[in-house]
Amino acid sequence: MIAAYQQRCQARVDATLETLFEAPRSELARIYQAMRYSVVNGGKRVRPLLVYAACEALDGDLDHADGAACAVELIHAYSLVHDDLPAMDDDDLRRGQPTTHKAFDEACAILAGDGLQSLAFDVLAGNRHNPPQADLRLSMVMSLARAAGPAGMVGGQAIDLESVGHPLDKPALEVMHRHKTGALIEASVRLGALASGKADENSLQALQHYAQAIGLAFQVQDDILDVESDTATLGKTQGKDQAHDKPTYPALLGLDAAKAYALELLDQALQALTPFGTSAEPLRELARYIVERRN
Ligand code: IPE
Ligand code: IPE
Ligand code: MG
Ligand code: MG
Ligand code: MG
Repeated sequence: MIAAYQQRCQARVDATLETLFEAPRSELARIYQAMRYSVVNGGKRVRPLLVYAACEALDGDLDHADGAACAVELIHAYSLVHDDLPAMDDDDLRRGQPTTHKAFDEACAILAGDGLQSLAFDVLAGNRHNPPQADLRLSMVMSLARAAGPAGMVGGQAIDLESVGHPLDKPALEVMHRHKTGALIEASVRLGALASGKADENSLQALQHYAQAIGLAFQVQDDILDVESDTATLGKTQGKDQAHDKPTYPALLGLDAAKAYALELLDQALQALTPFGTSAEPLRELARYIVERRN
């Protein structure tokens, strides 16, 4: 069931993403090409899926969630382009292809990341693929800005880089993961809920508890896969965390305890959805997928 749901949502977000990369003039061909290369390349689209699933949980209209689905994927793609740069994780392979700075060059990859970030807010602020209510769109822009910025993903990446060679304890590792990966996943769920136009405080809070648990679980599983998967399956070089002495859950707790922790977080996520009926089934399936995935 999740595979079919995933395919449907991937096709949906990809159709809108595809419309964003036509260079408005020939001089801009290369930067648009680099941005497109970084996005239209077979990512799992977990964050857009969460946008759609949260919108569906509140019985919203998915036509009003396409903008948010694109926006979170554009921010995510930008974060990956920069994460792979030599100054950060120095990776050559992403989604089974050369990283953007390898396929183009470093300056172009930096600019492509910057461009993707701006494009995300452009897509989210307009009324084309979003709810008609301007106040809702403003809340969505603000939520995404906070999640992507220094109090969210950017802050988490800063902690990640500063922590190399300084072992973190479990609370500090959790803070890092909640920022670098959890914040954007939480925003994806929140944006989907807001896009429905039907979110009240109670549902937003329940969905936030769900998202906090799967946001952390997502990075715990990413760390586990870096240890026990392989490069071909992952589409990125396996074993880089250990090679770079990165703070991770398997490094801190051991593989078995990291897996047990991911399952505990899954349980918390499912419990947070208790107030919702069958409309939240896609969110439940996605939570299971996040801790069971192999890439
Ligand atoms: C990888 O994210 C980076 C992390 C935040 C852990 P994904 O595993 O969602 O990567 P893609 O989008 O499917 O390539
Ligand atoms: C990346 O975490 C998180 C962000 C890009 C914000 P990782 O460095 O673990 O991601 P991968 O393993 O390179 O995909
Ligand atoms: Mg990194
Ligand atoms: Mg990395
Ligand atoms: Mg990783």
